[in-house]
Amino acid sequence: MDQIRFDNRVVIVTGAGAGLGREYALEFARRGASVVVNDLGVARDGSGSTHSAADAVVQEIHQSGGKAAANYDSVATPEGGKNIVKTALDSFGAVDVLVNNAGFLRDKSFAKMTIEEWDAVMNVHLRGAFCVTQPALSVMRERGYGRIIVTSSTSGIFGNFGQSNYGAAKMGLVGFMNVLKLESEKYNVHMNAIAPNAYSRMTENLIPAELAPKLQAKFNVPMVVYLCSEECRENGSIFTMGAGWYAKTAVVCAPGVCLGDGSREIRAEEVRENFAKITDLSGARPLNNNLETFQFMEPLLK
Ligand code: NAI
Repeated sequence: MDQIRFDNRVVIVTGAGAGLGREYALEFARRGASVVVNDLGVARDGSGSTHSAADAVVQEIHQSGGKAAANYDSVATPEGGKNIVKTALDSFGAVDVLVNNAGFLRDKSFAKMTIEEWDAVMNVHLRGAFCVTQPALSVMRERGYGRIIVTSSTSGIFGNFGQSNYGAAKMGLVGFMNVLKLESEKYNVHMNAIAPNAYSRMTENLIPAELAPKLQAKFNVPMVVYLCSEECRENGSIFTMGAGWYAKTAVVCAPGVCLGDGSREIRAEEVRENFAKITDLSGARPLNNNLETFQFMEPLLK
């Protein structure tokens, strides 16, 4: 099996000072990449900041003969995003891969959630992806090549108690990807979303401790490495994973049912009568863009 390599590739991993991001950064470096290790070095709830998180990973990469540069900016500001990309350009002259990974939690039941807790989580995950991806994508478009990952979560894709802020941000990233996959494909820039599962600082009080040896962060790394490789043509997909399980995950549309004739009024009672057909997911499939929903309405649009 020939190895997937990243020689002469420049990879930015945000939030790479700990957890999943650290594992991605170390593996990209092992495979020849020059890695920008970004980390603001915050506490589990996003408070504080320290250079030591990014520095430790850069040191680890250097000690094993790899190439890395540290960046300590927050992903959540436009200046931070630009500076992260500038670190890549100043240190290594390019940006080929961006893994949007930085983030934190502020869990609270919805009734008790403050606007500050909502904003902080939206800012780091969703605004952070905007702030770093925009300058990175502009370099990638110019160079005609790029691979981008956004980090979603099963908390948003499927739901999880106490995480309305986090779930909204994480599903927002799927919408973000769905649009950018269309805008960037012609520049040979591909973007995919991952929903990882790992026992980390972030999840240590959410995942039972006995699962820690199974849900190791490193098991999420191979999927990220492959999706970011030149040979991988995948664009605009979501992959859920954990413990060595990897599965494509999708938002699908059922064939549904056409009611009325395109002009007469449709009664709520007709929806009630057809509800079994409307909710039947057999034959449901993912769509590539919003206009594809019109295919289902075709008989009514004539
Ligand atoms: P972690 O807490 O171990 O690491 C996150 C890193 O991001 C920390 O080093 C932190 O300092 C950094 N960071 C936080 N805010 C930042 C900012 N504004 N700018 C730059 N760096 C910042 O968390 P973990 O578990 O490694 O999570 C990584 C990503 O994966 C997150 O986006 C998380 O939401 C996502 N995720 C994790 C899951 C899990 O099971 N661990 C499940 C689903 C998603």
